Amino acid sequence: MNNKKIHPFAESIGGTVRIPGDKSVSHRAVMLAALGNQSVTVKNFLRGADCLSTVNCMRALGANIEEISADELIVTGKGLNGLTEPTEILNAGNSGTTLRLLMGLLSPRRMFAAFCGDASLTKRPMARVIQPLSLMGAKIVGRAGNKFLPVAVTPVTQNLTGITYDSPVASAQVKSAILLAGLLAEGETTVNEPYLSRNHTEKMLAACGVDIRQTGSTTVLSPPAARDFAPPSVFEVPGDISSAAYWLVLAAVMKGSRLTLKNTGVNETRTGIIDVLRSMGADITLTNKRQSGGEPLADLIVTGNGNLHGTAFGAEIVPRLIDEIPVIAAAALFADGDTVMREVSELRVKETDRLQAIIDEFNKIMPGSAVADGDTLIIHGRCGEFLPNIPVKTYGDHRMAMALAVIGAAKAGVCLDDASCVDISYPTFWNTLEGF
Ligand code: S3P
Repeated sequence: MNNKKIHPFAESIGGTVRIPGDKSVSHRAVMLAALGNQSVTVKNFLRGADCLSTVNCMRALGANIEEISADELIVTGKGLNGLTEPTEILNAGNSGTTLRLLMGLLSPRRMFAAFCGDASLTKRPMARVIQPLSLMGAKIVGRAGNKFLPVAVTPVTQNLTGITYDSPVASAQVKSAILLAGLLAEGETTVNEPYLSRNHTEKMLAACGVDIRQTGSTTVLSPPAARDFAPPSVFEVPGDISSAAYWLVLAAVMKGSRLTLKNTGVNETRTGIIDVLRSMGADITLTNKRQSGGEPLADLIVTGNGNLHGTAFGAEIVPRLIDEIPVIAAAALFADGDTVMREVSELRVKETDRLQAIIDEFNKIMPGSAVADGDTLIIHGRCGEFLPNIPVKTYGDHRMAMALAVIGAAKAGVCLDDASCVDISYPTFWNTLEGF
């Protein structure tokens, strides 16, 4: 825990920021590369604490992972069936993606693996993954009736069977866990989601030669023969739009600013923040559009016009911006009128209860600005003054820390109780903020 005082910027900001690697894609690159027989270079890997949890777990499962530089790895696996039983407890740290995807990846295997995590992860729901995997035949046990960490994936004696699963939540972690289990199951695995969540697993499995089809929010995977599973020799990780989000908002709310955000991933399942900020009146352009590693990339140019207004959205867009809600709420504080975010109950089961955290902390900065009505979050933009240099809590949640920092930098300063949690997804966040 380290406190940090964020000073307000004296004037608008400008320049270029190169956006670090995508967290979701970095996890998946390491996991899938470790299932191949050949060395895979992972370029623009995000060296955040969450992705390093995945690296440590995959090493404990027998993968060879060399750190070539700060953002490049070489991963060598022993084939689709080649993971080995870990002698140590797998520690997923703060990372839901590490834990949930690995439960899926390990559940079809004849091996025992026990998982632990930090205090936050230990409170987060795991039944959403354990239940569908159990329907496939997995033998997973966990605390409180198989709902929470600690969890153990125990050896199966029979192959899993593919299922058709109607997921009650639009969650890429749930979908990915089921698809990864489906790689070694008998028959097809189908996941229906209420709305399509991020589809990086699907794109990357396709790049490994897996027969995987997506129609609307339905995904169907046919298990490959082990010899046909072949990751590409390079996984190039796009910049993380969830990290670019902080600079999009900072520049959008500061009149006269102009920032270029280089190398940002603009996969359709992730670009909800651009749609919402534009609906609030923000000026964002995409240039230099290209493809890399099956993912679309662009440079984003954002200009601060000082002219944002409130907006409204609901379930259909939430999966496309789920991690950006704290910083969208930050933008909404600077907008005229109300911003109404419906059906955002998933916020309650993130690294902290983000719905409550936004309400508690935003109301310290601008009293009366944030309220919840059931699973709707409402921000009353500019309903009062920004109080200067208010002490606020991050709850050890990286996205709360960065969203609160954006508010402080754009207007009246804030004092964060813990700045180090940004290491989870954006270790260079403070350098970039302080470099403007
Ligand atoms: C992620 C999926 C999302 C997101 C998380 C990363 C992933 O979680 O919030 O930060 O990499 O699959 P859910 O699947 O729980 O919505």
